[in-house]
Amino acid sequence: MPLPKAELHLHIEGTLEPELAFELAARNGVRLPYADTEELRKAYLFDDLQSFLDLYYSLMAVLRTEDDFEALAEAYLARAAAQGVRHAEIFFDPQAHTARGVPIGTVVEGLGRALDRSEARHGVTTRLILCFLRDLSAESAMETLEAARPYLHRITGVGLDSAEVGHPPSKFREVYAVADSLGLRKVAHAGEEGPPSYITEALDVLGVERVDHGLRALEDPELVARLVRDRIPLTLCPLSNVRLRAVRSLTEHPLRRMMDAGLLCTVNSDDPAYFGGYVGDNFDAVESALGLSREDLRVLARNSFVAAFLGELTIAADLTRVPLPKRTP
Ligand code: ADE
Ligand code: ZN
Repeated sequence: MPLPKAELHLHIEGTLEPELAFELAARNGVRLPYADTEELRKAYLFDDLQSFLDLYYSLMAVLRTEDDFEALAEAYLARAAAQGVRHAEIFFDPQAHTARGVPIGTVVEGLGRALDRSEARHGVTTRLILCFLRDLSAESAMETLEAARPYLHRITGVGLDSAEVGHPPSKFREVYAVADSLGLRKVAHAGEEGPPSYITEALDVLGVERVDHGLRALEDPELVARLVRDRIPLTLCPLSNVRLRAVRSLTEHPLRRMMDAGLLCTVNSDDPAYFGGYVGDNFDAVESALGLSREDLRVLARNSFVAAFLGELTIAADLTRVPLPKRTP
């Protein structure tokens, strides 16, 4: 039985497996520049975040209808449930779709169909987090938030993703302030490739409650002390970091050092179709590469519920499913 866990850093577009990509391409008459799934998989060799994003955005051409987004989310939820996920906070990138002429309503309603039955069908509760593409303008982000207004009942929070370096959090000060006034929760990718100062900015300027990645936090001891003191959760994605060469190998991943420093770490899959594994695979990978104990894994699983945007009662109920082993006095 896999450990019950919450997944808090998952791009739904990054769950598009080659088989589904080809199925949707055929359905929608989209020509992919790959002969078959095997050839497509061979393209999954990345030098950095941008080289991944190029493929990630181009493959989205197959996602056109509500049915497509429903199929995408349904496939993810089934896989996640099989790896112990009981709660998923799911990112989506509306600008990557509206730029292709797919309205935000198609995306949200399509995903919503799968999310609405997820608890009954898969035992997985869900939240949706709308991400702004940080390499587009602040105006575009604001327009996106405006376009999302009719769907806010389905959206829990906002996030910030895409190419990080050169696009600091402060660029999105205004749109986060509006999101806050609408009662939305706030997260942002920071410190994946960008410097620790981006993490500090995300906290100070955007008021984020949780940092996505935060991988480079250890470079700034003052920042670490603050993250520990304020119990700011980090949503780490170990397999992603290796595939995008943010770390040289899994054995060099800072997760263990971050846990030892007292940081509230969680383990997530980011874009599992591209990075070689879903969240349970990430747990297994760090267990062996970093020599994490069963207790370490339980701490990570518990952290995932503590860091989730769930009500206190739900969190308490979830925590009882991941008890820590009793310590001998
Ligand atoms: N969009 C999808 N995956 C991403 C990642 N790892 N970093 C930034 N933006 C992303
Ligand atoms: Zn991400």
